[in-house]
Amino acid sequence: MRRAIVLAVFLALGAIVLLAPWPVPAPRVAGREVVIRARQYEYAPGVVRVSQGERITMVLEAEDMTHGLYVDEYNVDLVAVPGRPARASFVAEREGKFRLRCSKVCGSLHPFMLGELIVEPNSPWWRVVGLTILTALGTVTYLTIGRAEAPRGVHA
Ligand code: CUA
Repeated sequence: MRRAIVLAVFLALGAIVLLAPWPVPAPRVAGREVVIRARQYEYAPGVVRVSQGERITMVLEAEDMTHGLYVDEYNVDLVAVPGRPARASFVAEREGKFRLRCSKVCGSLHPFMLGELIVEPNSPWWRVVGLTILTALGTVTYLTIGRAEAPRGVHA
């Protein structure tokens, strides 16, 4: 009896993981603009999060002097002068964390002017992970309950 309930609960949870609308739609055609402001010696925001497959237009605005923005492994290199933002579009195909670094010498701490681009896996991947975890939990619960009920046999 309890096994049937556990089974029903996990099947329902599985359906939710599979069918729930995802807040961040996977590859978007229109793309998203990400504005990054640069000043000695930091980027704001320092960490940029996007979804894998998303089309990104990166806009670099320099606040105090000329700064660059190079995205590791994405071959994106922007140079912005105050009052003249620079922009580049690319598709965030590769998942992972990528260093952002200033590519124009801008002072003594220039080598330490860094940021991070985080490309998060898109939703189908998370659904797979969710289902895997649910299946594991469901199996363990199902077996545990079965073992606790079976040997007694009082109600059988
Ligand atoms: Cu900013 Cu180098």
